Amino acid sequence: MKLFDSIRIGALRAPNRIFMAPLTRGRAGRDGVPTEIMAEYYAQRATAGLIISEATGISRAGLGWPYAPGLWNERQVAGWRPVTEAVHRAGGRIFAQLWHMGRVVHSSFNEGKRPVSASATTAPGQARTYEGTVPHVQARELAVAEIPALLADYTAAATNAIAAGFDGVQLHAANGYLLDQFLRSSANHRTDAYGGSVTNRMRLLREVVEALTRVVPADRVAVRLSPNGVSQGVEDKAPHQLFHAVAEMLDGCNRPATDPCNRLAG
Ligand SMILES: Cc1cc2nc3c(=O)[nH]c(=O)nc-3n(C[C@H](O)[C@H](O)[C@H](O)COP(=O)(O)O)c2cc1C
Repeated sequence: MKLFDSIRIGALRAPNRIFMAPLTRGRAGRDGVPTEIMAEYYAQRATAGLIISEATGISRAGLGWPYAPGLWNERQVAGWRPVTEAVHRAGGRIFAQLWHMGRVVHSSFNEGKRPVSASATTAPGQARTYEGTVPHVQARELAVAEIPALLADYTAAATNAIAAGFDGVQLHAANGYLLDQFLRSSANHRTDAYGGSVTNRMRLLREVVEALTRVVPADRVAVRLSPNGVSQGVEDKAPHQLFHAVAEMLDGCNRPATDPCNRLAG
């Protein structure tokens, strides 16, 4: 088995094992609409086995990076289409990385509204905003009643990704963003069904993956995790236990016949 041997990964047949990591570039418009240079940039990299796009906002409330792209409206879909077409024309494959930044979104990106997170915590350090770097603001705890709307944002963005010509989606559940804030113990202090035990902390991730696999075939849905170290103040007291359970749960989600996404529900 060599680096330039092809590999089957889910529904994808990649001609080699070199995958391009998702890299935020900040080259979209302030409205999250991709620009022409993004088509050129990604097409230049189309010989990769698979390109994972830069993290792409699922909603206005979830995106707090200057000039990062989104996938929550038609104009953004239309802006992505030439990008995926250029990659395909050059013989490549590209997944969209779906992003909700949680507490890392500064309120200035969202009409002054506080960001949401697993708990009322504040990301360390400074936020990059259109007005320069400023201290992060404290997030408010996401209410259970708000979860259906969050799941709907994820599925709408995934549906939009497919409409824009992406070959699949990668759920961003890593690096201290929203889903990682629920997963890892340092940012999740909840006492309801979404906090405390490992099963509870991975509940939101499971629900998002279940929702995504209802609109995109499971073999075209990837998940990025970061079991390693501290990410933007997010870490876990027992990462081996947590991420082993997460991997088991996700493995189940890939076999729809057995409905095992529910296996670890508790
Ligand atoms: C400029 C830059 C932008 C990044 N953007 C993203 C991103 O949008 N999504 C993501 O999951 N990781 C992102 N990362 C993390 C990279 O995908 C990668 O995991 C990280 O650079 C570590 O790999 P390395 O040691 O090869 O650099 C970014 C990293 C850099 C340096």
